[in-house]
Amino acid sequence: MSKVVLPKTMEGKTILVAGAAGFVPSTLCEFYLKQGAHVIGIDNFITGSRSNIDLLSAYKKFEFHQYNIYEKLPNFKDQKIDYILSMASPASPIDFAIIPIEIMRVNSEGTLKLLELAREKNARFLEASTSEVYGDPEIHPQREDYVGHVNPIGPRSCYDESKRFAEAMTMSFYHKYNVDTRIVRIFNTYGPRMRANDGRVIPNFITQAMKGEDLTVYGDGSQTRSYCYSTDLVNAIHYVLMSSDPTPFNIGNPDEYTVKETAELVIKILGSTSKICYLPLPKDDPKRRRPDITKIQTYSDYKPLVTFEDGIRQTAEYFRSIL
Ligand SMILES: NC(=O)c1ccc[n+]([C@@H]2O[C@H](COP(=O)([O-])OP(=O)(O)OC[C@H]3O[C@@H](n4cnc5c(N)ncnc54)[C@H](O)[C@@H]3O)[C@@H](O)[C@H]2O)c1
Repeated sequence: MSKVVLPKTMEGKTILVAGAAGFVPSTLCEFYLKQGAHVIGIDNFITGSRSNIDLLSAYKKFEFHQYNIYEKLPNFKDQKIDYILSMASPASPIDFAIIPIEIMRVNSEGTLKLLELAREKNARFLEASTSEVYGDPEIHPQREDYVGHVNPIGPRSCYDESKRFAEAMTMSFYHKYNVDTRIVRIFNTYGPRMRANDGRVIPNFITQAMKGEDLTVYGDGSQTRSYCYSTDLVNAIHYVLMSSDPTPFNIGNPDEYTVKETAELVIKILGSTSKICYLPLPKDDPKRRRPDITKIQTYSDYKPLVTFEDGIRQTAEYFRSIL
């Protein structure tokens, strides 16, 4: 594959985004609206927020449909659709115990419905997969050809296994029906529009530091994570969407921090007086997480631009505005 050349504009293109009220998908909707595309958002608000849709509704070319995508899609009979972005899935570990069946259904039946629509419309399809397909990885950093180490019956399996199913379904539509598909494996991402009570590490630490509460670290904090700011992630998704390679791309920021280091940095950046407290490590918590992004960097000019310090400040500013 040659290096991806980005189009100057998305004017004249129609992009359907499933999960439009969510954190990453709403950021992506705004990115494409700013590039002149007609964006059709779908969401059932299971984890998304109406305020994200209100914000997008300020753009004339945004249209919204409230649907549960694994039950039914809107009628798009006479509608041209160029791109379908399959982004609808709860992604926070706190949701895994509460709505596991909904998570499995959206990533299986929901993805199937979107792939059928892509086939019918001759649209390019992108599946938002996850680093969780690698499970608790035995190799480090994780490259796209690593097939993973996933517990099929553990507390995270509703998410990990249904995303693996979504990838398999996507590749099956590519091979059997020639649907023009792409897959991104998203690593930990954070930024404005996340739920403050989302349960993921960055919103937890920021909200605790802002309230002067102890930052909760699970285990001894030596497990590692890599954090990508949302606008950097959206740039990476755009590169993959415009590429010609149907096989998965890791996307994220490879800077790696221990969770303890992360907590200390958040306290320092926000000038907080909080301390750190330690709780037992949940079962199947991945010990190391860092994307190998050689593949996307070989085929594009993708480079994460937002520093951890700036990203934390901007996310904290957003939480201050909503709390
Ligand atoms: N944020 C991350 O760090 C991260 C990491 C890996 C993968 N991802 C993937 O990126 C996508 C977006 O994640 P996010 O963090 O923005 O999560 P999010 O929960 O903020 O967004 C998901 C959106 O999908 C909607 N949704 C869920 N089920 C639906 C259904 N049946 N019908 C219609 N809408 C439905 C939710 O209401 C929500 O608005 C997900 O597919 C997720 O698996 C995110």
